[in-house]
Amino acid sequence: MATRAPRGGLFGRVKPLDAILATAEKKSLHRSLGALQLTLFGVGAIIGTGIFVLTSVGAQKAGPGTLISFIIAGAVCVVAALCYAEISSMIPVAGSAYTYSYTAQGEFLAWTVGWALLLEYAVGASAVSVGWSNYFIDTVMERSWGIDFPDWLSSGPVVLGGKAGGLLNLPALAIALVVTGLLVIGTSESAKVNAILVAIKVTALTVFCALTLPVVQAANFEPFAPAGMFGGFGSGVGVVGAAATMFFAYVGFDAVSTAAEETKNPQRNVPIGLIGSLAICTVFYMLVTAGAVGAIGGQPVMGANGAPLPAGEALSLQCATPQYVDALVCSREPLAHVLHTIGYGTIGNMLGYAAFIALPSVILILLFGQTRIFFVMARDGLLPEALSRVHPKWKTPHVVTIITGLIVAVAAAFFPVGALADVANAGTLYAFLMVAIAVWQLRRTEPNRKRAFRVPALPLVALLTIGGCLFLFFNLPLEAMLVLPLWTIIGFGIYFLYGRRHSHLGRGLVEVHEGEAHDLAPHVPGINDPDHRH
Ligand code: ALA
Repeated sequence: MATRAPRGGLFGRVKPLDAILATAEKKSLHRSLGALQLTLFGVGAIIGTGIFVLTSVGAQKAGPGTLISFIIAGAVCVVAALCYAEISSMIPVAGSAYTYSYTAQGEFLAWTVGWALLLEYAVGASAVSVGWSNYFIDTVMERSWGIDFPDWLSSGPVVLGGKAGGLLNLPALAIALVVTGLLVIGTSESAKVNAILVAIKVTALTVFCALTLPVVQAANFEPFAPAGMFGGFGSGVGVVGAAATMFFAYVGFDAVSTAAEETKNPQRNVPIGLIGSLAICTVFYMLVTAGAVGAIGGQPVMGANGAPLPAGEALSLQCATPQYVDALVCSREPLAHVLHTIGYGTIGNMLGYAAFIALPSVILILLFGQTRIFFVMARDGLLPEALSRVHPKWKTPHVVTIITGLIVAVAAAFFPVGALADVANAGTLYAFLMVAIAVWQLRRTEPNRKRAFRVPALPLVALLTIGGCLFLFFNLPLEAMLVLPLWTIIGFGIYFLYGRRHSHLGRGLVEVHEGEAHDLAPHVPGINDPDHRH
């Protein structure tokens, strides 16, 4: 179906909500998900590299104060989650923040959101791939199998932690390609597999807490915030600097909103799923960090200027000295390392295996999200339509999946996990901010539209989300902050050279897609199976 749509100026191309909702109607998914399934899905998407790997990166920035960093980042996510809960219950269609922005803020800004989501999902998937490779190399290959994995194949040229910079991170490259392959052939993780993986992760973290919390020593929390609350603009250190990095540990909860359309009683269950999964993760993150820091200490390695050393050559050299070789902040697989240090080597290895088994599903969820957003953007004409081609046999957008997978794999091969997480955070914070604005805007422009869930105290919650996102963004390291405007400028180039001219909306077409969207929509990994369609 195609109808005429108004053409507008730069900010005037707004996609009519009716057309978007008509697309959703065509899909007609069965409402089968309850609060527990949504919460499990959220926890499955959230727990990953953030807690398993970045704990040491956070401690290097803030010391024991990382505990507070988790609370700050979690609080920003809770208010953002309320905004997601409202907008996804109102516009329950594919494309997440990109689609919400298209209908509230118009095509141009939606393009910048979609473009920034590439940072969240694709660069986020790269970060998790590197986190996975840390456990694969250190726990599985070296500690468990006794194989000395060559350093030059275990990290990119940018150094991190105790290892010298290598040529590339081969396992990270490989896992990203394997997950891409699975997505191309249409592998979708069932709700059952997701539940098993969540159980593995939760068990690993619970055992970690049970073994470390009893041996916590108060002295290990002194000084609590050696780098202060704020480390200075652009430094990315201090408690708030660590919060901006540890924000990554919560990324993924927005995936819950993609299932709004399939949720029973969404006004109750979507917010429970979003807030519930965030609350569970926040509690775990705090307990795990308290256990890790309390058991073996978590003071940063300081440079000559009295500030924590950033990831790089100088930190690597320090981490190779006897004084720091066993420090939490120098470990690439910190949770396994803590258990080894306090005498639970075998259980430490098992925890490493848990990360090894469970992290690929986080990569799968992120990569899946990215391919679907690209798919929707291509379907709207903002990217070449060849990208939205669906494979005749596998029914997957194979072209876009392969291209995205290659980008993810290359980034994973060459960059360190902390830097990737920071860049992913920059993109995510922009998307969250735009979603909060969109929720607020739509209350004014579409006051009577049905919303299964309404954010309480709206202007306040939207303002807190906007303020929280800006606050975290401006506490990222300078390089990560700069990536977003540079990335956006590249995005502008593509939009003006290609998207603006080919946009379906710009050409006067508002399309309701039936065939391909219908084929693609139900396969959200970890949450639904194809038979949910009817
Ligand atoms: N929150 C997810 C993780 O920490 C992306 O791996």
